[in-house]
Amino acid sequence: MDSPTFLPFFLLGLALAASTASFATAANNLNQEVDITWGDGRGKILNNGMLLTLSLDKISGSGFQSKNEYLFARIDMQIKLVAGNSAGTVTAYYLSSQGPTHDEVDFEFLGNLSGEPYLVHTNLYTQGKGNREMQFYLWFDPTMDFHTYSILWNPSHIVFYVDGTPIREVKNIEATMGVPYPKNQAMRLYSSLWDAEDWATRGGLVKTDWSHAPFLAEFQSFNSDGCIPGANIQAACGSKAWMNQALDADSLNKMSWVQKNYMVYNYCIDVKRFPQGLPVECSAN
Ligand SMILES: *[C@@H]1O[C@H](CO)[C@@H](O)[C@H](O)[C@H]1NC(C)=O
Repeated sequence: MDSPTFLPFFLLGLALAASTASFATAANNLNQEVDITWGDGRGKILNNGMLLTLSLDKISGSGFQSKNEYLFARIDMQIKLVAGNSAGTVTAYYLSSQGPTHDEVDFEFLGNLSGEPYLVHTNLYTQGKGNREMQFYLWFDPTMDFHTYSILWNPSHIVFYVDGTPIREVKNIEATMGVPYPKNQAMRLYSSLWDAEDWATRGGLVKTDWSHAPFLAEFQSFNSDGCIPGANIQAACGSKAWMNQALDADSLNKMSWVQKNYMVYNYCIDVKRFPQGLPVECSAN
């Protein structure tokens, strides 16, 4: 053990171990990125910040929020949804600002009976007004493995992604059509697991089977790149690639594949719901 060559190799090993650790910390340590905000111990950060679990039982669900607020951001999170009979449960993952005229970008995953498809519910609120739902099935079983769900929010559009595939794009048409676009209010990331048996599964027909509780959803690999509000956004973030990113032809093709094959609800074609006429933005696409 006293061989002269041992020490340098030992030090090199230490240096490598240390640099790997600090890299992982910067990118993914959930202890540094989020706070568990409710659920009385039902939300847990495990494995030195590498994994977060939320649970739901008859008494309560649980949730967390990002420590940072963002004014424009690119957010990725890997989620493994509640397995088995998850009917009645909702796993929410969304950006939101505060107050009555808040902005909000929503992903909600509505559980189902074993073997029946999860529903991915998306919505957008601007200036406190929502009613812009689009819903999708997934092309995989979201309970078997972790999959990446992302939100891109830049000055020209908001894009919802599943495993890097865009499923929905909301363009900023405020200047041309007067539809408010989120651009002044900072948003935080929130996530929660809760019970919504009165509406979630088949519109409330299928209730939660509490004999399967506690229900568990798992989260990892949180990555956020956002502009911190207060700064000069253009100076601080203008050069970030995602701030200027638009959907290229390949992405648009993928999105139309998803919308053609997996979209199950689109408010923009729901003429029964809007007898006075479809919302203005529906004519933009
Ligand atoms: C659950 O499964 C049923 C039957 O396949 C389907 O109609 C429904 O959209 C699924 N999802 C939810 C959340 O109800």
